[in-house]
Amino acid sequence: MSGHGPAIPMTSRKCGPLTGEAHVPGDKSISHRSLILGAMAVGETHITGLLEGEDVIGTANAMKAFGADVERLGDGEWRVYGVGVGGFAEPENVIDCGNAGTGVRLIMGAMASSDITATFTGDASLRSRPMGRVTNPIALFGAQSYGREGGRLPMTVIGAADPVPVRYTTPMASAQVKSAVLLAGLNAPGETVVIEKEATRDHTERMLAGFGAEITVEDTDEGHVITLKGQPELMPQTIAVPRDPSSAAFPVCAALIVPGSDVLVPNIGLNPTRAGLFYTLQDMGADLIFENPREEGGEPVADLRAKYSPNMKGIVVPPERAASMIDEYPILSVVASYATGKTEMPGVHELRVKESDRIDAMAKGLRANGVTVDEGEDWWSVEGLGPEGVPGGATVATVLDHRIAMSFACLGMATQKPVHLDDGGPIATSFPVFEGLMAGLGAQLTRDNK
Ligand code: S3P
Repeated sequence: MSGHGPAIPMTSRKCGPLTGEAHVPGDKSISHRSLILGAMAVGETHITGLLEGEDVIGTANAMKAFGADVERLGDGEWRVYGVGVGGFAEPENVIDCGNAGTGVRLIMGAMASSDITATFTGDASLRSRPMGRVTNPIALFGAQSYGREGGRLPMTVIGAADPVPVRYTTPMASAQVKSAVLLAGLNAPGETVVIEKEATRDHTERMLAGFGAEITVEDTDEGHVITLKGQPELMPQTIAVPRDPSSAAFPVCAALIVPGSDVLVPNIGLNPTRAGLFYTLQDMGADLIFENPREEGGEPVADLRAKYSPNMKGIVVPPERAASMIDEYPILSVVASYATGKTEMPGVHELRVKESDRIDAMAKGLRANGVTVDEGEDWWSVEGLGPEGVPGGATVATVLDHRIAMSFACLGMATQKPVHLDDGGPIATSFPVFEGLMAGLGAQLTRDNK
């Protein structure tokens, strides 16, 4: 899992209208959680629509290593026979989470209150990312962690033999940190409380309730206060994973910038903690509508229809919306390049510690392709060149980051000259069918060494 083999250089060329339907894969966040919670339930959880990207397969393998019985039944269809809360076995080998920050952080939380030891590693991107944000709160339960300088992987976590419940305020807006603490709280006696000042994606809370845990969420002056009663027996579930809004973002945004396009992306989860990009695009004047809005499995869902939008304007993206679109800033910056006027994106410090420093990676690649980008530690801005304007022609570094790779692939669909990716391999971590799906709509995205 560490690294994906030889680089796969790609070129994205100006294409004709993108048209048709784009069936994007299952939600990455919910896929990781389905496997982990399935492994912590007693009995058989049945999952359909699981994202079969490298990140999630890493989590499936990890759950096997912790003793759960995990089996693929068919396309996106999996069964997990769980060992129950507190039932994890000690893995016999190092757990390699590949590129997956969500995978490693949630699993560290899930094992932190069990009397077992596990060592975690990942690819060069994951090994450079901060883990202190999880090891600090799990230490409060009684877990010990030994990693490299700066709290980096590889890291060994010695779970707490006698865990105590914790009350913890997350120091940054992070659903991974919140979720790690809640998962650690599962095997602690008493009540574990997590307080978050800004709402982040709430899949863990919703799914824990679905698996039968006692969990409450209150809105108070302190923020969201989430209270979980420890040591429940989690009941196995039947889970239909909704399609990923973060993956839908790519065909939607490509359609907005490629002349004549009209693309339908059906069945997209529009949980308010995830849908910020789509509201931002509408604020910019994008021709993007939610068709057939409905509820499925307790989540708002709609079919997204995106059409070429030559009249988009740059805006200031509200910083309070950042958490609900944190993974979508790279592709937003591509759309902003084709808008008229400046798009400002304040309050986004967390972008610096994703699979890559996403402000740096996008700024470098956009500048190389003729777009003016300005940046500070926690903000950046893009000077839109209008519908005709992005020159293109450069090779960009995708820095082991799937969303950087897909964003530049979309950029090249409308630039005057082609955009080259040094490595499209990272796309497989979250969207393994991206190339075929975009080609089906009319994109000209090719591998250079074919
Ligand atoms: C995720 C939370 C976010 C997001 C990541 C998935 C999750 O990370 O960027 O892609 O599934 O909980 P942070 O918790 O670091 O904000």
